[in-house]
Parts: sequence; structure tokens; C-alpha cells
Amino acid sequence: MGNSAFDVKDFRRALGQFPTGVTVITTRDEKGEPIGVTASSFNSVSIDPPLILWSIDKGAYSLDTFRNTEHFAVNVLSRDQVDISNRFASRGEDKFSGIEYHDGIGGSPVLDDYAAQFECKSWAVYEGGDHLILVGEVVDYRYKDIHQPLVFSRGSYAVSASHPAMVKPTATNGASEFISDYLLYLLRETYNRHSQELYPKMQQECGVTPEEWRVVAILSDNAQMNLSDLAPLVMQPEGALRETAEWMADKGTLEFVNDNAVALSAKGTVLASQLLNIAKVHEANALAALPEDQASLLKDSLRSILALD
Ligand SMILES: Cc1cc2nc3c(=O)[nH]c(=O)nc-3n(C[C@H](O)[C@H](O)[C@H](O)COP(=O)(O)O)c2cc1C
Repeated sequence: MGNSAFDVKDFRRALGQFPTGVTVITTRDEKGEPIGVTASSFNSVSIDPPLILWSIDKGAYSLDTFRNTEHFAVNVLSRDQVDISNRFASRGEDKFSGIEYHDGIGGSPVLDDYAAQFECKSWAVYEGGDHLILVGEVVDYRYKDIHQPLVFSRGSYAVSASHPAMVKPTATNGASEFISDYLLYLLRETYNRHSQELYPKMQQECGVTPEEWRVVAILSDNAQMNLSDLAPLVMQPEGALRETAEWMADKGTLEFVNDNAVALSAKGTVLASQLLNIAKVHEANALAALPEDQASLLKDSLRSILALD
């Protein structure tokens, strides 16, 4: 019972408001070749028995392998594994060359690097529209507390961060004096407060999302770029960036030079100067509390900490 009134791109953007982790699901095909797919549809189902699920696109090359396999492994990626996510999001074979892994239960390849790992016995396969829903019974699992998970949100890779406290720490409200004098707290809080104001402003005044702003800011320095070169700079997988680019092309701010390369349109160039101006004014407001020489000293100091010079 479909609803053909839905605009597919818009529906996918709505779904992107629900952040997920990123996994690579692995198994072996009937010839014994290792198979792997990047999937963000992973979720827990049941504690007793221990069940998890994920869904695979019926158009995936590895659909039949996963439909018929007796075992598979879920490798939850850490924040340092964006390259692995992109590699396994490509279509077809030979995704494992150069990847360190060994055989797990039932021969499923388990990656040597991971944030968590769930080795599963196939438990059930359900129809799910244009996807199949695969439920696995967890036979064994492990995780590394030291690794922060990779996050996927609104079509972009992200990292999880603790929610900014609403109460300013002072000696009298019980928050530690140490915190209010701690560099990492000051940096994070400065970023949190000021970025919170910037993105709604760009949305209200120019109707652009943070994802579009990143694309515009990078393209404003480049005549045209291949999507494959742009993707890592805006932290989007290439497929998701193509959707962002098509969305922008529909709005007239971006043009496809060919199937794989994009550039700002005339409307996009005007938008870029508006957005850069909003960013500059916003920066000036944030720095207004400081005399000019201190503001440039602050930036120099941050560049030194980042070893940018
Ligand atoms: C972050 C991210 C999440 C993804 N999640 C899924 C998913 O849950 N299910 C799926 O079938 N494909 C998902 N994909 C797309 C597949 O990884 C991609 O289609 C891949 O080509 C499938 O491999 P195959 O065609 O070799 O089977 C995702 C891609 C990315 C970048």
C-alpha cells in the first residue's frame, strides 16, 4: 500500500533527521568469497533471545547472499572508519583488499578494527517493501569502550558529543571551577553557543541547511569539483552528496557540469556571497567583546594549537 504522493527525495530527507550509527555487515557467498555492505539500518530488537535487525536494498549486489546466508557479522564502525564506510558502500566485489580481518563464526569476516561487533546466526528474513529485513540472533559480541562510534545524520558523517550544559558553570552553582577554566570546555562551549545561532540564521535568511552551506562554502573557492573530491570535504558519502547536489540543482543554486562534476550556478554564486557575509558578520559579533588585537591573537593562538601555520 504505497503512497505515491510522497516526493522520494523529501521523504529521505525527513528520515535523515533520525541519526544512526554506521555498520559494515559481512558474510561469505556460496563460493566462500567475503562479502560486505555498509548499513545504517541496524538496530536492536530483543534482549532475550538476543536479536538484532538490519535491512538490505533489494537492488544490492549482495542481496541473494544475505538472503541465503546462515551467519553474518555486524561491525559497528568507530569515528575513525569513514574510509571503511565509503569502501563498503561501493557496489560489487573486492571490497576487502587491504582490509585487516579474520574469520568469525560461520566464516563471516570480522574486521580487526571496530567499535562493537555482533556475530549472528540468521534468525528470520521478512519482506519490507523495496528492502528485505534480516533478523539475526547474536551468538557472540564484543566492543571497545575506547572507540567512539561513527554517527550518520542528515546524510553526513558526524561524531557524538555530550549535550551542551544549559547552566553556565560557576563556583556557586556547584559546577567545578576547574571546568570553567578548562580549555576543552571553553572551546566546545564557544563552538556550541555560536554555531547554534549561525545555522538557523542561514536557514531563515537564505533557506539553506548546514549541509548545503558546507557545499557552497567549498565551491565558492573552486570553479567546479568532482563529487568524489567534494564528498570527503563535506563529510558526506558520495551517494548522499549526490542527493544534496540534486536538491540544490532543483533549487537552482548548483549545476551539474557533467554527471560527476558540479559548480555553483549564477544564483549559487550570489547565495555564496550572502552566506559568507552572514558568517563574517556572525564572527564579528562573536568577537565583538574583544579588542581587535586580542581577536587576531586568539585566532593566531588557535592556529598554533592546531599547528596550521
Ligand atoms: C552511511 C550509509 C548507510 C547505508 N545503509 C544501508 C542500509 O541500511 N541498507 C542497504 O541496503 N544499503 C545501505 N547503504 C548503501 C549500501 O552500502 C550500498 O548500496 C552498497 O553498494 C551495497 O553493496 P552491494 O551492492 O555490493 O551489495 C548505506 C550506505 C551508506 C554510505
